Amino acid sequence: MDLDPATLPLAERYGLMISVISPRPIAWVSTIGADGSTNLAPFSFFTGICAEPMMVCFAPVRDRTGAKKDTLVNVEATKQFVVNIATEETAVKMNQTSASYPYGVSEFEKAGLTPVPSARVRPPSVKESPVHLECELHQTVTLSEGPAGGTLVIGRVVFARVDERVWKNGRISHADLKPIGRMEGVWYARTTDAFELPRPKP
Ligand SMILES: Cc1cc2nc3c(=O)[nH]c(=O)nc-3n(C[C@H](O)[C@H](O)[C@H](O)COP(=O)(O)O)c2cc1C
Repeated sequence: MDLDPATLPLAERYGLMISVISPRPIAWVSTIGADGSTNLAPFSFFTGICAEPMMVCFAPVRDRTGAKKDTLVNVEATKQFVVNIATEETAVKMNQTSASYPYGVSEFEKAGLTPVPSARVRPPSVKESPVHLECELHQTVTLSEGPAGGTLVIGRVVFARVDERVWKNGRISHADLKPIGRMEGVWYARTTDAFELPRPKP
């Protein structure tokens, strides 16, 4: 099958992206607006970049009309966000927070989640998530502004909070964290069938 992005309809291009890059980790991003309202939404176009300084990024895509997602509006306005990690236990509530509520409606309330104060940034963290990465905005890179256009949001992690329940021997235990991954369509992956593969020696 040969596929040329120049001739592929937009929906098929998106479908190809999310089926090829799979499974994807999920940044469950909490923000506040200039008006003080809180917002929470999942983003699976998400990855770490480097550890010195500790940087992560995620990509809010514009909607069909080219409008910015509330998360991007808030990040641009207040320059801070928290990446909470979605787990098996929080999957259903995480999904609930992806509904398109009007600006200012808090997904914390809609999904029955608990906002807790963060240590170094103003957006609250999600109590039900075992890992919080508190971030200061480093840079946004807007690649396109029309429908399905994208902006990369790059943040510097200024504080990390990990629940004792998933912290074993000085590191996060994936077996206890049970992070989930997003695949194509409405499919998700569990991480309970992991295997080890030591790095080869040259
Ligand atoms: C697991 C999951 C991953 C998602 N990943 C993205 C993403 O990477 N980029 C994006 O623009 N939307 C993504 N979405 C959709 C947004 O969460 C959704 O548009 C949400 O309403 C945005 O909220 P906001 O307008 O409050 O920022 C994802 C949804 C789910 C359920």
